[in-house]
Amino acid sequence: MSYNLLKGKKGIIFGALNERSIAWKVAEKAFEEGARIILTNTPVAMRFGKVDELAKACESVVIPADAANESDIENLIKSAVKHFGGKFDFMLHSIGMSPNVRKGIPYDEINYDNYLKTLDISALSFHKIIQTCHRLDAINEWGSIVALSYVAAQRTLYGYNDMADAKALLESITRSFGYIYGREKRIRINTISQSPTLTTAGSGIYGIDSLIDFTERMSPLGNASASDCADYCITLFSDLTRKVTMQNLFHDGGFSSMGMSERAMIQYDKSFRECP
Ligand SMILES: NC(=O)c1ccc[n+]([C@@H]2O[C@H](COP(=O)([O-])OP(=O)(O)OC[C@H]3O[C@@H](n4cnc5c(N)ncnc54)[C@H](O)[C@@H]3O)[C@@H](O)[C@H]2O)c1
Repeated sequence: MSYNLLKGKKGIIFGALNERSIAWKVAEKAFEEGARIILTNTPVAMRFGKVDELAKACESVVIPADAANESDIENLIKSAVKHFGGKFDFMLHSIGMSPNVRKGIPYDEINYDNYLKTLDISALSFHKIIQTCHRLDAINEWGSIVALSYVAAQRTLYGYNDMADAKALLESITRSFGYIYGREKRIRINTISQSPTLTTAGSGIYGIDSLIDFTERMSPLGNASASDCADYCITLFSDLTRKVTMQNLFHDGGFSSMGMSERAMIQYDKSFRECP
């Protein structure tokens, strides 16, 4: 069901790779809610993913950009302003990549070149994108910027590796730039801390199936899906959340406030009976 929450708004969505991507669902819902959007991803992702298919369905265009590359970002933002015929209103950063995770290198044997790439792609890219928009004055007053985070920024989750550090940095950039952009232009910046989700990036997380089962048992409302996450993003892009900024907003069915649940306890007890 559509509520026209984004009628007349324009935005850029980073990170739609295929139909499992959180950004894919956000693009579909933003279009349904009346927004005009531009999609962007790396040239490699555009070759191997399905973003052109999404662009057709959302009457959108795709502008390739490596989010870690400053000149790509500048070109993207300038092209977006030209395409929209002026400033735009919202932006989704849905980007994550760790070469250490990809190569199975554990945190205590980390490769520092990889580590820098993780931080650059997954967190600094957010700063670069916001700084470029700020410099070019590309976003309308009362605009909204959202990035996707994970509870590993606050709590240690075995195997999440250097992505935990990237998410902590991402959330800190949100606060630091949120102050500046809010003060100057009334533009809000928030992160959504999403449940584990079976996407391409999600599948790369160590032990993802166990993690999804664990968080499902622990969360009173169950895990949030990619589609649920997209609904939350839409509210943050809409005018209904104009005074929400500099926040990390948990969207995880209650997981982050739990210590132990009945469902998880039952499963844990069962494991003692099966392997005493
Ligand atoms: N899947 C989960 O369990 C989960 C949970 C919490 C948060 N998140 C976050 O959600 C976001 C989206 O991930 P997803 O789960 O939809 O997976 P996904 O694999 O569909 O999306 C990740 C995207 O990042 C893009 N990307 C990688 N390097 C890039 C670069 N240099 N420049 C531009 N784009 C680049 C990829 O092409 C891809 O489209 C990420 O920030 C991820 O950390 C995911």
